[in-house]
Amino acid sequence: MDGQGTSSAGHEIATELRRRLAASPSDRLGDAVRQIMDHAFQIIATLRPTPEELDALVQFLTDVGYATDARRQEWVILADVFGLTDGVFSGGRTETAGVTPSTLPGPFYRADAPHLALGADLCRNGAGQPLSVAGQVLDPDRKPLSGALVEVWHANSEGRYENQDPDNQPEHNLRGAFTADADGCFHFRTIRPGGYALPEDGPVGQLARRLGLSLDRPAHIHFAVSAPAHRRLVTTIFDGADPAISRDALFAVKPALIGQFGAGGTDLLKVVLVLDRDGSLQPNQPKG
Ligand SMILES: [Fe+2]
Repeated sequence: MDGQGTSSAGHEIATELRRRLAASPSDRLGDAVRQIMDHAFQIIATLRPTPEELDALVQFLTDVGYATDARRQEWVILADVFGLTDGVFSGGRTETAGVTPSTLPGPFYRADAPHLALGADLCRNGAGQPLSVAGQVLDPDRKPLSGALVEVWHANSEGRYENQDPDNQPEHNLRGAFTADADGCFHFRTIRPGGYALPEDGPVGQLARRLGLSLDRPAHIHFAVSAPAHRRLVTTIFDGADPAISRDALFAVKPALIGQFGAGGTDLLKVVLVLDRDGSLQPNQPKG
């Protein structure tokens, strides 16, 4: 390629790569690689990155790998803060009108939350501002789903979950499972959760800060609701009064998921959770 301009050389390489990839199986992996590389060569043609900038990219990706271990998944954080996680999750989903939007469960869900009687208190250490939650589980026709299983988990007022904060919180603090009554209703007591930020001490956090991307998650409560013949709903209700409500790092806040935590000076949060019928599952939808 000596004596040729970068753009021309890049074009020839892109053409040759496309020729080689044409021999690869015409499956989704091949399609994805072809499209990614087409975009990559467009970037090379327009931005003309320097070798030093390529080195910086390689170093960044290396750092993301080194920041990942059994307790921390920096690659997932990378996908999250650039909207890829919610984009993939939302893009593969067909919503039925009126059904509560689903969200990712996040990394702090535990399947072994204790089953509690209606009205029980999730707070096991008395720390925090009291909050009462009263909810109802409905089907798409707004009929109550009696006996629905409602799993709940949230962070403490410092924005930390019990399973990331074992030295300061009792096990199973701020999490539990309830069985809705004959009217699909459930209620429990807890404390107001605090918002939190994704870690900024790693390469992704530093990049996000440099680009002005939010790492903040507004305060929220996670719900996972199961009822026979209905699609399991995993969702999140966010505190509409949290200043970070418009800049959720994970792009998960939707209008139907904004709640009034302690509306009107009370300590009450009302929640309505509408499940989709299992029969309306689309073939490409993941089963929760
Ligand atoms: Fe969360």
